[in-house]
Amino acid sequence: MRVLVTGAGGFIGHHLIKRLKADGYWVRGVDLKVPEFEPSAADEFQLLDLRRWADCQQATRGMREVYNLAANMGGIGFIEHNKAVIMHDNVLINVHMLEAAREAGVARFLYTSSACIYPLYRQQTPDVTPLREADAYPADPEDGYGWEKLFSERQCRHYFEDFGLETRVARFHNVYGPLGTFDGGREKSPAAICRKVALATDDGEIEVWGDGSQTRSYCYVDDCVEGVRRLMQSEWREPLNIGQERLVTINELVDMVASAAGKRIRKRHVAGAPQGVRGRSSDNTLVRQVLGWEPSITLEDGLGRTYAWIEEQIAERAATP
Ligand SMILES: NC(=O)c1ccc[n+]([C@@H]2O[C@H](COP(=O)([O-])OP(=O)(O)OC[C@H]3O[C@@H](n4cnc5c(N)ncnc54)[C@H](O)[C@@H]3O)[C@@H](O)[C@H]2O)c1
Repeated sequence: MRVLVTGAGGFIGHHLIKRLKADGYWVRGVDLKVPEFEPSAADEFQLLDLRRWADCQQATRGMREVYNLAANMGGIGFIEHNKAVIMHDNVLINVHMLEAAREAGVARFLYTSSACIYPLYRQQTPDVTPLREADAYPADPEDGYGWEKLFSERQCRHYFEDFGLETRVARFHNVYGPLGTFDGGREKSPAAICRKVALATDDGEIEVWGDGSQTRSYCYVDDCVEGVRRLMQSEWREPLNIGQERLVTINELVDMVASAAGKRIRKRHVAGAPQGVRGRSSDNTLVRQVLGWEPSITLEDGLGRTYAWIEEQIAERAATP
């Protein structure tokens, strides 16, 4: 079967293509850029700008299924300061990709949404109640990025209701792992902390945004890819969480990375830095029911693998003249 993965030059898209190839698919990857750290496993890789209608038509031509991961996005520092461009780019990508998929006769279309669609009023304390899919409304998502994700979720629903296009919507919660961006301003908290710890000396100090008592749950990329594959094959048409239930503070995350690195690390808390919501984690009741599965790779295991990879990248860069 011929399938399209957009965002194929990015973190999750790259991992997803490796998995689809292992599962026997013929894969077309599309992105503005090729993957940063290793060549794509895609059978065909096209450099296209999916904000453009004609590029979406070209990308979807002859495809049976579409995994639409392309998005202009980054960690909290990036999404806080680029709301207009994020909404502009991602609305264009998603409205054009859905319509192009319909026109091309695509059978199934998977859209990658985010925990950022959940209402801010449910995430105001660190001991937050895990978020159920039904909690999305009344809507009050993360400004900019979250509003666009919620809009595109609705658009998927209407493409099924009005045109019969089978759409699937995954709501990812903080996906991390090797081969993800770890510097440059778009990196997310696990990668940023791994980089800071790798660069620090034993008994050194790193900057932590905010007081560090904000909480999150983190999902290792292999679990994320497994969830995406299972959701695409299921008959479930409503949005579904792909995330972990285990809640940790940012301070705990730093301690876990320090332990993976075998270093003692002191934290310097920086006031005024972007922090996002106070607490956020996934309620997995529905995903267990629907997919008979939930993410299971432990944070200790996943962070160990991620830290080892980032440390190696930094060492290689330092060794390159
Ligand atoms: N990583 C996470 O924790 C997380 C959490 C929630 C949702 N998501 C969603 O999952 C998807 C994949 O995320 P990721 O972490 O791999 O991000 P990523 O930034 O590594 O990958 C996104 C890719 O989309 C590409 N892209 C952007 N604009 C494009 C355009 N106009 N045309 C073609 N390609 C374009 C980028 O070049 C990039 O390679 C995104 O939709 C993201 O919003 C990710």
